[in-house]
Amino acid sequence: MTLQELREEAERLRVAWAQGLAGAASLDELEALRVKFLGRKGHLTRLLSALKELPPQERAQAGRILNALKGEIVGALEEKGREIEARERERRLAAERYDFTLPGRWRPLGHLHPLTQVRLEIEDIFMRMGFDVASGPEVEDDYHNFEALNIPEDHPARDEWDSFYIDDVHLLRTHTSPVQIRVMKSRKPPVRIICPGRCYRRDTPDATHSPVFHQVELLWVERGLTMANLKWIIEEFVRRFFGPGYEMRFSADFFPFTEPSAQVHIHRQGGPWLEIMGAGMVDPAVLTEVGYDPEEVTGFAFGLGIERMAMLRWGIEDIRLFYQNDIRFLSQF
Ligand code: FA5
Repeated sequence: MTLQELREEAERLRVAWAQGLAGAASLDELEALRVKFLGRKGHLTRLLSALKELPPQERAQAGRILNALKGEIVGALEEKGREIEARERERRLAAERYDFTLPGRWRPLGHLHPLTQVRLEIEDIFMRMGFDVASGPEVEDDYHNFEALNIPEDHPARDEWDSFYIDDVHLLRTHTSPVQIRVMKSRKPPVRIICPGRCYRRDTPDATHSPVFHQVELLWVERGLTMANLKWIIEEFVRRFFGPGYEMRFSADFFPFTEPSAQVHIHRQGGPWLEIMGAGMVDPAVLTEVGYDPEEVTGFAFGLGIERMAMLRWGIEDIRLFYQNDIRFLSQF
């Protein structure tokens, strides 16, 4: 090979290299190109090893030509490599871009039972009106559940509260009214409390009765309270709990521990009337029993059914739905 031939061959290589480089679109193709020109059996390597065929005085010049070409190729490889890497990175980033406006994946979360929701709401309304929350035992004794409430042993009113007895004197409380007695016996007037809690009766289950149910007892004892105050509290409570679209009806009733006594019915437009509570002015005999002076203070009380409030709020026609734990029912609240 002559110097001239080598020069021409180097020129062809440069052209072939330039074409190859222009067509390389990926790092793999670029690597193949590198091997083709600079690899152990590559074009340029082959030409470099042909140097020794030249006469010694031409070798230096030929070497410079080939080294220049090699420098070009190496430089271009690096530059193109960086270019392709940058482009691939951008494509990857574009493909990975997050769309923050897509709706997330929801995990099913539990929530409070509808009866608990209603209880908390009732507590909230009365706490804002200045009532404390009190509590008492679910296993009561005859004295607090009946006797102190002016219902002696053979009183016919006991039939109204058909009870679950545990022994001769203990029973599952039939209402939250025994808490009135416990609170009044432990505090001096004025007393302003509510007491939410579970009650038990041997009632045959039907659409509006459950053997286990919940009441909220309210008791306010102070100097100078009248039936008008009681009526206002109830009206204000019903207004705050239900809002518009509900009607309320007061009517006379009888309870041994209140005098006079009333019951309250509510209905939603178009729906049935439902009794939600018994109420009245605390009977002087009860005030005397707990050591208060009925000449000094008067008081009023009511016992409100939580289930009935929930039924009216959501238009639920059967109380038993609250106790069947059917997730299709519960998940609606
Ligand atoms: C009482 O229990 C009285 N202690 C209420 C009271 C308190 C009167 C203070 C005066 C002063 P009654 O048995 O009517 O009264 O029950 C009151 C409310 O509890 C009813 O209006 C109803 O809403 C609810 N209730 C009673 N029995 C059941 C039952 N088996 N299932 C669901 N709710 C019931």
